[in-house]
Amino acid sequence: MKVVLGVSGGIAAYKACELLRLFTESGHEVRVVPTREALKFVGAPTWAALSGNPVSAEVWDDVHEVPHVRIGKSADLVVVAPATADVLAKAAHGLAGDLLTNTLLTATCPVVFAPAMHTEMWQHPATRANVATLRSRGAVVIDPASGRLTGADTGPGRLPDPDEIFQVCLRVARGRPLDLAGRKVVVSAGGTREAIDPVRYIGNRSSGLQGYALARTAAARGAEVTLVAANVSLPDPAGAAVIRVESAAELREAVLSASADADVVVMAAAVADFRPAARHDTKIKKTDGEPEAIHLVKNPDILAELGDRRREARSGPPTAPGTPSELAELVRGDTPGIGAGQEKAAGHGAGPQVIVGFAAETHDVLANGQAKLARKGCDLLVVNQVGEGLAFGTAGNAATVLVAGGEPVEVPFGPKEDLADTVWDLVATRLS
Ligand code: CTP
Repeated sequence: MKVVLGVSGGIAAYKACELLRLFTESGHEVRVVPTREALKFVGAPTWAALSGNPVSAEVWDDVHEVPHVRIGKSADLVVVAPATADVLAKAAHGLAGDLLTNTLLTATCPVVFAPAMHTEMWQHPATRANVATLRSRGAVVIDPASGRLTGADTGPGRLPDPDEIFQVCLRVARGRPLDLAGRKVVVSAGGTREAIDPVRYIGNRSSGLQGYALARTAAARGAEVTLVAANVSLPDPAGAAVIRVESAAELREAVLSASADADVVVMAAAVADFRPAARHDTKIKKTDGEPEAIHLVKNPDILAELGDRRREARSGPPTAPGTPSELAELVRGDTPGIGAGQEKAAGHGAGPQVIVGFAAETHDVLANGQAKLARKGCDLLVVNQVGEGLAFGTAGNAATVLVAGGEPVEVPFGPKEDLADTVWDLVATRLS
């Protein structure tokens, strides 16, 4: 595929070198089009050497080749990373003062922006309006990650991990629909840890890979994603807001609060069913003598609670957007895009929440799964057979998705993103 990598003038320009390598090393032809300001951060020789193509920020070089039209028209994908507030504004308003903005005006292929800037600039009404304009025209704008920015400040504004931007680009280029645009999605991932003392815990083998694949694919399909991650050490999926938790109690609080107005909740986390009744404040020492037995108590079942909450909401008065921000969202009628910053055209009150559970079973997989689907009151249950190298920590997964009131869907062994896409296909059908 022919890729144009637009680079604008932010400190994150150095991370675009990594993105460039990901494209070239997987066989894509990349033309880098930096802005003049980007060249102050990373020079043209670096882009030329890494891409194997000439590099210019100006429309005045190689004029006989009419680059200001040819580069955009011949591209299969344009990705601007980092995209500054300035380049977003220029693109939204159709300015064409350099080669990159000319390219954006002439490109007819999918366009992805990966903004990076200080939090204040990202949250400024001017930038919000420009992002909404670009999304309304079909551009994919990935919400920036939260974290440490150039100075001592932290907040939303960091460029997502280059590999995560790369994955979004591949999906956009493959033409996956933005069928979750405007939907609010909560995904839990990883495995909880229940403290015994300050250094020891009861945990499980969940790596978080499947939950992260669900979050990544939902964001790439346009959803506003909150990812509640229990003890996962993976890069944040592009466009997802990540809340980190440790115990089942913390996970419960984060999931219940984030999902209050969500359209979809997916409980992919492996939640401890039991926790020690008491947590020792100090380390249990060998010298304390014979160890005490660890007395366990039951944790609340979060998935079942979500089902109960939905049932209660259904039998209560009909929900309608009532808060000032809900009403403002409806009035604004903002447009589809990727990530946590996009506003919904209709609040969650527009339809019932879709709830998805996971089940890890070692035996009687389907029978146990069907019983669990009914017991927990969810719409879909992804049933994994576990044990002997299956599911935990592996890149791939095979599963059966049980559907309340429908036929089970078998997902053959493949990347965890494929299983995630099957789940979102089924969710999208239920939402519509
Ligand atoms: N789950 C939850 N809260 C818990 C335990 C599990 O929300 N305290 C969720 C998991 O995130 C998963 C689903 O419930 O989506 C199934 O979890 P599982 O441990 O397989 O089910 P259990 O109810 O524990 O049933 P069993 O012990 O019979 O396997």
